[in-house]
Amino acid sequence: MNLQSARNYDLQAAVLEAEQRFVTANPKSKANFEAACKAMPGGNTRTVLFYAPYPLTIAKGEGCYVTDIDGHTYADFLGEYTAGLYGHSHPVIKKAIQEGLERGIVLGGHNEIEVKLATEVCRRWGMERLRFTNSGTEGNLMALNSARAFTGKNKIMVFEHGYHGGVLSAKPGGSPTNAPYDFIYCKFNDTANAKKLIAENAKELAAVIIEPMMGGAGCLPADKEFLHALRDETKKHGVLLILDEVVTSRLAPGGAQQIYGVKPDLMSFGKYIGGGLTFGGFGGRADIMDNFDPRLGAKAWPHAGTFNQNQLTMSAGYAGISQVFTEEACVAFNKKGEGFRARLQDIVKKRSLPVTLTGMGSVTMIHFCEGPVKTPDDANKSNTLARDLMHLDMLSRGIYMTRRGMVNMSVPMGDKEFDAFASAFDTFLGERSALLQKA
Ligand SMILES: Cc1ncc(COP(=O)(O)O)c(C=O)c1O
Repeated sequence: MNLQSARNYDLQAAVLEAEQRFVTANPKSKANFEAACKAMPGGNTRTVLFYAPYPLTIAKGEGCYVTDIDGHTYADFLGEYTAGLYGHSHPVIKKAIQEGLERGIVLGGHNEIEVKLATEVCRRWGMERLRFTNSGTEGNLMALNSARAFTGKNKIMVFEHGYHGGVLSAKPGGSPTNAPYDFIYCKFNDTANAKKLIAENAKELAAVIIEPMMGGAGCLPADKEFLHALRDETKKHGVLLILDEVVTSRLAPGGAQQIYGVKPDLMSFGKYIGGGLTFGGFGGRADIMDNFDPRLGAKAWPHAGTFNQNQLTMSAGYAGISQVFTEEACVAFNKKGEGFRARLQDIVKKRSLPVTLTGMGSVTMIHFCEGPVKTPDDANKSNTLARDLMHLDMLSRGIYMTRRGMVNMSVPMGDKEFDAFASAFDTFLGERSALLQKA
């Protein structure tokens, strides 16, 4: 056994022990999971929520806390994978939904609030026109299909390990449940590779789609020159640039595109902009989007969706961005996020462990490997057993977070929650330092 596998042997034993502790503490979640398995494969209808030995069942949420059905309360740093930006019971969002309910549930017609939300989202994120959808996945599907219809070309360039939705995974080798797009795979943060592929495929390439900060692949910000090169090359070759801002729209008042100074032809958005309800959308250049104008008659591009402008979502979304996550609040929130990540970074530094933090603003990822971590290949070196152990240990200390190590802030969080996270993380690194040491 070499040193690395000896370390993993010990880590495996520690994970098994932590799982046992988890099972003892969570009998009701176990029973609910077993019942769920009878109706849903693996008891699951949303893959990302699964983790071993079984996921907690959440009974309720308040502010930035969630409580599971066994009665444990956790500070919620999972933040509904960034859609839970407002927490679980923000009074402004609740009031907006209640007012929406007073108007009726499904109205089957236009409503005034969709105009307000559309106008404000266009203004904030620099789109000339937009359309709403029910999810970020659908927003991306529609953005990709718009690019193909507009350019008359078929291929799409994606970045290895990128994620644009349940049917739009850019894992090398593809995914059996992907929508059948003809993807060209490029390396993230590899300008030479991107320029070459765009030039070589220009005649068939409809669009390049990219997350300005890769989320699922490990919260990896694009290099500035890389994103600018994509903008320049796509423009030069008549290819559309689509920014997937489903996660990154929250990082600045005008999204990541404002931070980078890169204007896409189209963008997608979703998550918290619907106030925490089912939501997504896409938009950008008027000359592309205006093809959806139904007044064009038979020539108009169709786009359907029963719940696209559901007034409950529209109400929650508009109240959220106009009253809570205002431009000033967004700046302050992400500044706080930078401070929080720096604080965690100091904790790591003090302990000299092979742990690396990445992210931007209010979104952070913890990797169990030496840095720098700039690409999915770097991130894939992270030790998954260490990651599993952190997740189970943090849960046992009252911190709810993602299994993969992504940490998402929400608006109701304050010093109490940041202190609780920092202290639990420090204790985890201290207690487990021998296991986490470099082999
Ligand atoms: C970057 C990115 N794009 C698209 C999506 C898909 O959004 P939804 O889950 O709302 O379909 C996600 C979801 O996590 C995402 O992270």
